[in-house]
Amino acid sequence: MNKRKILVTSALPYANGSIHLGHLVEYIQTDMWVRFQKMRGHSVFYVCADDTHGTPIMLRAEKEGISPETLIARVHDEHLSDFTGFYIRFDNYYSTHSPETRQFSEDIYTRLKNAGLIAVRGIEQLYDPVKQMFLPDRFVKGECPKCGAKDQYGDSCEACGAAYAPTELKNPYSAVSGAEPVKKSSEHYFFSLSDARCSDFLRAWTREGDHLQPEAANKMHEWLGEAGENKLSDWDISRDAPYFGFEIPDARGKYFYVWLDAPIGYMGSFKNLCERENISFDAFWQPGLSSDTELYHFIGKDILYFHALFWPAMLKNAGYRTPTKIFAHGFLTVNGEKMSKSRGTFITAESYLKQGLNPEWLRYYYAAKLNSTLEDIDLNLEDFVARVNSDLVGKFINIASRCAGFITKRFNGQLVDGEQYQHLRAIVDKRFAMWRPDQIDHAFEQREFAAAVRQIMKFADEANEAIHELAPWEIAKDPQRENELQSACTLGIQLFYVLSCYLKPILPETARRIEHFLNCESLPWPALTDDQPVSNLLLPAGHAINPYQHLMTRIEAKQIDALVAANVQSLTPSAVQADSPARHGQKQQHGIAPIADMISIDDFSKIDLRIARIAKAEHVAGAEKLLKLTLDIGNELRTVFAGIKSAYDPEQLEGRLTVMVANLAPRQMKFGLSEGMVLAAGDGNPGELFLLSPDTGAQPGMRVK
Ligand code: MSP
Ligand code: ZN
Repeated sequence: MNKRKILVTSALPYANGSIHLGHLVEYIQTDMWVRFQKMRGHSVFYVCADDTHGTPIMLRAEKEGISPETLIARVHDEHLSDFTGFYIRFDNYYSTHSPETRQFSEDIYTRLKNAGLIAVRGIEQLYDPVKQMFLPDRFVKGECPKCGAKDQYGDSCEACGAAYAPTELKNPYSAVSGAEPVKKSSEHYFFSLSDARCSDFLRAWTREGDHLQPEAANKMHEWLGEAGENKLSDWDISRDAPYFGFEIPDARGKYFYVWLDAPIGYMGSFKNLCERENISFDAFWQPGLSSDTELYHFIGKDILYFHALFWPAMLKNAGYRTPTKIFAHGFLTVNGEKMSKSRGTFITAESYLKQGLNPEWLRYYYAAKLNSTLEDIDLNLEDFVARVNSDLVGKFINIASRCAGFITKRFNGQLVDGEQYQHLRAIVDKRFAMWRPDQIDHAFEQREFAAAVRQIMKFADEANEAIHELAPWEIAKDPQRENELQSACTLGIQLFYVLSCYLKPILPETARRIEHFLNCESLPWPALTDDQPVSNLLLPAGHAINPYQHLMTRIEAKQIDALVAANVQSLTPSAVQADSPARHGQKQQHGIAPIADMISIDDFSKIDLRIARIAKAEHVAGAEKLLKLTLDIGNELRTVFAGIKSAYDPEQLEGRLTVMVANLAPRQMKFGLSEGMVLAAGDGNPGELFLLSPDTGAQPGMRVK
């Protein structure tokens, strides 16, 4: 056999969020494909990493009061444990915040620069004067310039769908501090995609060589336009400090935009593996040396642009090999709709595992639904239960559980031998002549997983039919028919064995347990040359198996209900905040004060809580504990003296949002009139006081209820 050398990647998940069932559509399919290729005997490396850079990660770390490095280390562990829980087996799971990725980023940038493909231009952007940072589009909010809807992001309106520049928003505000952004210019670095060396190359690359799925290629052509049309604009690859990322060589205070170093993270992760395992990196990345190696990127359709245009153009012009193929897939919907936090269908990998659901149920269901197109795939929860129970347990596992007991009890684990075995081979060759691996092989290779599963289940139906006709449970009643019983059960076990081999890329853990049960070292990928009979796939004559042990349970609908219930998130800030520390078991157990006397909802609604922006925070001469706050609550300013001096510097507070009691009777204090109260938790000792903040998007004046 000609042994292929294949490097496979899945997209690098952002380090600022948890892995959910949507992500798993990608990682599970990649893993199944890799396992299939490895079983066939090819040399395959599957690498991935966390995508660690960018503004959201920087801000989240800040919010949690930890360094970005600490945050990404923690998330790396969480992601890897989620993936491992679903039996996704990377050869390396690394981080883009690595010396390797830094080195390749600098190297690729320098080569592009030396080729004259990096341009520097001043651009004007929105800047948060309080937070002192440029604001990415998603961090500017305001009123849609087209329809006037409030609280829309800086790039597009969720109400009317309009796309615009953040500078076009009406009454814009920073989602970071609440401050009104100002326009400020700064120098940015651009990758000259409009240069013919990029656009002409891409026009050819996307058309020729079968690098993209037809649907993806069409999209790229639309984006690229015809020669001379030059639809591709240069790509802004720099961001100004403060930014969590790699500083650009020779450009102090400028950082590579996260999407520049993210795909380079594929190289970084692979390089790290190569060093550890003595693999030739160059054999996969040097154009001259890589003609017999293959490079595949599995990605979601949302990030095609980066992988099918920017990435190959970068690689090509920096003198590296380009991908063999980009495999894009669609998005996951649950019960026909976008995953939703409030409906509980935004299901995290962690919660699925924690609820004790079997990860292989999901692997099987995804396999049964996936094909090689960009179509979305739906996880219908009812169908999920029905399919897993009827196919996996009903059609597959049941074969073993029905036949194994007799073999163990009556024949000491021994499958038939000698003439009986020859007879069984003849039956298999006649009745199961269709069980040739070719179609399944082809389907897996083409990532037509659903087609492969359909075929395998058709085989399982045939196996069940045969067993049903033989009815070993009937034969067993007659002590005269021992041989017949052994043959019938052997047939069942042998067919179960072949089915298990086919299913191994999808069900690796069950396969491992089947290996023990069937007493074979490793289930092989079924392979036959044209002249070999299908009975060549069977276990040898007289093979002995171990006693059957339970392999897989059925799903109960109530387990799914519990999973959905566990994922329902109410979107109030307090619920979100209360939920997150618990996840990491970091909740500090202080002396908890007893809960106060019960009040009615009417009592509660007398308290008028408002979102307030701290417009000004000042020390108060002579006051030990107090800070003077000027609070903006939409249409008026309030002065409040707050006992938070031990925990906050005034500079820290200016611009941030908090919650105030707006209808508290004013109180004359030694230092002036206090017109309300801000909300904080804790007892006021240094480091033990926590001012409340609303979630991103809240605006001064909004009522909190
Ligand atoms: N960090 C980037 C990828 C950089 S690759 C050099 C990113 N991260 S992500 O965490 O948002 O997504 C990781 C992968 O999961 C992407 O390929 C994305 O398309 C995929 N999916 C995320 N949500 C998904 C669904 N709901 N359904 C299917 N795939 C989804 O993008
Ligand atoms: Zn709008």
